[in-house]
Amino acid sequence: MPALQTVTTPAELRSALAEARRQGQSVGLVPTMGFLHEGHATLIRRSAAENALTVVSVFVNPTQFAPTEDLAAYPRDLARDQTVAQEAGAALLFHPQPQDMYPPGHATSVSVAGLSTRVEGASRPGHFDGVATVVLKLLNLVQPTRAYFGEKDWQQLAVVRRMAADLFLNTEVVGVPTVRAQSGLALSSRNSYLSAERQAQAAVVSRALRAVQAAYAGGEQDAQALLAAGHAVLAQEPVDLDYLHLLDAELQPLQGQLTPQQAAQARLVFAGRLHAVRLIDNMPLVPGEQVQQGPTPGAPL
Ligand code: PAJ
Repeated sequence: MPALQTVTTPAELRSALAEARRQGQSVGLVPTMGFLHEGHATLIRRSAAENALTVVSVFVNPTQFAPTEDLAAYPRDLARDQTVAQEAGAALLFHPQPQDMYPPGHATSVSVAGLSTRVEGASRPGHFDGVATVVLKLLNLVQPTRAYFGEKDWQQLAVVRRMAADLFLNTEVVGVPTVRAQSGLALSSRNSYLSAERQAQAAVVSRALRAVQAAYAGGEQDAQALLAAGHAVLAQEPVDLDYLHLLDAELQPLQGQLTPQQAAQARLVFAGRLHAVRLIDNMPLVPGEQVQQGPTPGAPL
């Protein structure tokens, strides 16, 4: 396996990519905030399979955290991230500091109107502006052929796709299915805030989403009745619910009787807190895709 090169400044990144660019090689980008787990590794492996060279960025982006959120506490482990990235096939790891990405006097941000203020955006004002801004900066620095994002962050994927289309970005945005622990819990860096016992409790979220899927498969078509099946499961654990919605492709909540076409496109999205740790998850209402499983069931990874 070729050694992973770690670079920390935009200038170093550009020069590390110059040769690949001269040779016209395909480049894949996997933006992350680090503390890499099997979900991230799946994105990196996919990129390494589809591109000559894969860049992983590890940057805890301050502009997507509200002042009340966990920026300072966000887990960090660069040495382990380097190992995970290398083993998954990355060639380059970009690990900038905040002043590299936001130099003194920086004044530009990107806002994807509408999509950014709904659902998760309503709970976290400004969050998706921070995401869109840093993702555009990374895309401009790397100019990748393809960039990889997890379906785990469903609305983020929608915002990035919209931005890429609106701004004619020369990068294909690839969405990758959510990787889960054997319990069903979607892998997340923030799961490290929960003990193993609490992670087992957190599996109630995926069980609730599957209960909604089962209710639809059982013939229920009314959006409120479908969601009630999820609420009933969530009530089994001390979940402080933020939202449980069925969304259309524009991320607008669906109501009333669903047509088969609406149901086929509907996405079930959840956000809430368990023991003060914010969790998000989502699934299609009608499962079609193969659910991927991480190799370390229940582990904090
Ligand atoms: P982060 O939470 O580190 O996630 C990096 C990428 O990994 C995102 O595209 C996310 O959707 C994906 N991912 C996380 N958990 C996953 C899982 N269980 N299965 C599949 N993919 C998963 O998302 C961010 O960082 C940031 O907002 C970022 C895009 C890097 C911008 O700062």
